[in-house]
Amino acid sequence: MHLPRLAARFETLPEYPLATIPQKKRELAARGVDVIDLGAGDADLAPPPKAIEAIANAAHQASMHRYGFGLGLVSFRETIAAWMRKRFGVEFDAFTEIVPLIGSKEGIAHLAFAYIEPGRVAIVPEPGYNAYQGGALLAGGEVYRYALRLRTNFLVELDEIPDGTLRRAGIVYLNYPNNPTAAIAPTDYLARVVARCRELGILLVYDNAYSELAFDGYVPPSIFEIDGARDVAIEFHSLSKTYNMTGWRCGWAVARPEIASALTRIKMFTDTGQFMAVQAAGVAALESYETFVPANVATFQARRDAAVTAFRAAGFACESPRATMYLWIPLPGEVPSALFADRLLEEEGVVVMPGSAFGAGGEGFFRISFVTSPERIAEAARRAGRVLASIAAEVA
Ligand SMILES: Cc1ncc(COP(=O)(O)O)c(C=O)c1O
Repeated sequence: MHLPRLAARFETLPEYPLATIPQKKRELAARGVDVIDLGAGDADLAPPPKAIEAIANAAHQASMHRYGFGLGLVSFRETIAAWMRKRFGVEFDAFTEIVPLIGSKEGIAHLAFAYIEPGRVAIVPEPGYNAYQGGALLAGGEVYRYALRLRTNFLVELDEIPDGTLRRAGIVYLNYPNNPTAAIAPTDYLARVVARCRELGILLVYDNAYSELAFDGYVPPSIFEIDGARDVAIEFHSLSKTYNMTGWRCGWAVARPEIASALTRIKMFTDTGQFMAVQAAGVAALESYETFVPANVATFQARRDAAVTAFRAAGFACESPRATMYLWIPLPGEVPSALFADRLLEEEGVVVMPGSAFGAGGEGFFRISFVTSPERIAEAARRAGRVLASIAAEVA
């Protein structure tokens, strides 16, 4: 018997970091361990009630159960265009410049098929969201991993990348507010990147999944607020984090028609549109922005404050982030992040993401998510402090 042979391209995919955690959690819970999961960016909070009403109503209409196709629900496109105008002051055509997505991850990963091929380079921040390298590797491209470190305030500095690599680059992925480092990007930095991408003809993929999860008066921009960005950029948005709708799989991309239509064409061959009842709920979510989002952000801000206080008290040095649902916490004394995360899970039942799960460039850190109550986050911090102390005692 010969097992069907996998493609070499497939073999380039690394293990997915969150893949084994659900099983591990079940084993621990079965042993009676009180598990606190601060791993995935997947909050325990409810979506807007209006979104739930909208999907329930839509589910009673036969027309909603048919294929959405690329067009989808016209009102979803129109509501997105209106929201982009109101929130960022940018104007996009609902039909030619907006692409509804089955979660922004789907679009981010698929887009690489249009712009990456063998011999072309994708510039991927490391640590970074795994869909960037995933899409680029599946498209047969070469991945250039740029290490995001405090040295550059966790910004990708294109001028540090060898010229020959930049000239072969098809895509640069940027994500600010950033997962996992929680860094934000100043507008003069964004202007520099846009200018360089225009010079070199590189597609700038701007992942704005955390644009609405910001604190202390900080208002993250759209890349399209930067002059010239329309020539080279595509921006991804998601309902997942803003509206606690991760499981609904709903997002969109926005770009000039030439770029948007490339993604649409790929999707024609890989899916047949988002469930239209979910798109109807997307309309309701966007329309409840004013009534829902500020209170939801305040909940995350209270969790952030609790997390920063508790992890500092437990012996960790951490900055208070101005956006996202993450703390990116340095590990003292060269403790390997995977060892720390494994021991924290085994000995104390706390799930965190080791920095190395986001690529070698993430080593030396671990990430926690604000996905449970301040009290549970504080309890997790105490447990993390105990594990850190016991590792330090063993090394001493
Ligand atoms: C940086 C970043 N981009 C995109 C996504 C994907 O979001 P969606 O649920 O819309 O696929 C995530 C989810 O964790 C993320 O962290």
